[in-house]
Amino acid sequence: MPAMFKSTNSPDTSASEGENDELKNARTTNGSQATSDTDKDTRTSLSTSLRPHARRKRIVVAMTGATGAVLGIKILIALRRLNIESHLIISKWAEATIKYETDYSPKNVRALADHVHSINDMAAPVSSGSFKTDGMVVVPCSMKTLAAISSGYCDDLISRTADVMLKERRKLVLVARETPLSEIHLRNMLSVTQSGAIIFPPVPAYYIKASSVDELSNQTVGRVLDLFDLDTADFERWEGWKRES
Ligand SMILES: Cc1cc2nc3c(=O)[nH]c(=O)nc-3n(C[C@H](O)[C@H](O)[C@H](O)COP(=O)(O)O)c2cc1C
Repeated sequence: MPAMFKSTNSPDTSASEGENDELKNARTTNGSQATSDTDKDTRTSLSTSLRPHARRKRIVVAMTGATGAVLGIKILIALRRLNIESHLIISKWAEATIKYETDYSPKNVRALADHVHSINDMAAPVSSGSFKTDGMVVVPCSMKTLAAISSGYCDDLISRTADVMLKERRKLVLVARETPLSEIHLRNMLSVTQSGAIIFPPVPAYYIKASSVDELSNQTVGRVLDLFDLDTADFERWEGWKRES
């Protein structure tokens, strides 16, 4: 990270440094009677600092210019319902598809997120690995953004944040959409998969016998969020053949 991002009182870095000190203290006092005030203080702060940091689960949602803008919108709505903190980045061509394919305006879509970052803001919190997140979904994901992620070419906040997810070994789900697929697309999909991402093409599950596109979209959104251990409870799960009554 450039020096301008370095902060001596960053909560993320100071917490882990503090924790290491506490662990060192724990090792030196282990097995002996801790009776002095100093030892008592150490034990008190040890028990509090080792408690898991309580914060809302935080997911980055990026929308790009592939068709299927409604999927990104539905993901944002689901995250709101599940009380997950969302960080939204929208590309220029996602704005165009939102307007063309849905009844939403980009402004309305932005209003669904807890935090919105400009695609040109390379200094946004999500651009750094020290800003803790629980993963990222690019939905829908164009072949252009897939190519940028696959090559590590981070010239906008979406490809940079995806790059951060991969380097920090965090969950990255790409709802990659194109058809048919060229060898280049397939190679990029394989390469990001080998780097730890999950390719989730928005392919309809015909076995749910959906009566609308809305229902098919809910199933896709539900299965995407399953990958983050989030249950939308908004689609039917396969439970074996159903007997005709
Ligand atoms: C209506 C419309 C639909 C598009 N659908 C797709 C698509 O499904 N997949 C894709 O890879 N690109 C699609 N594109 C092209 C992308 O928008 C284009 O490659 C763009 O540069 C992607 O940039 P971005 O990833 O920064 O949003 C579509 C464009 C338009 C206008």
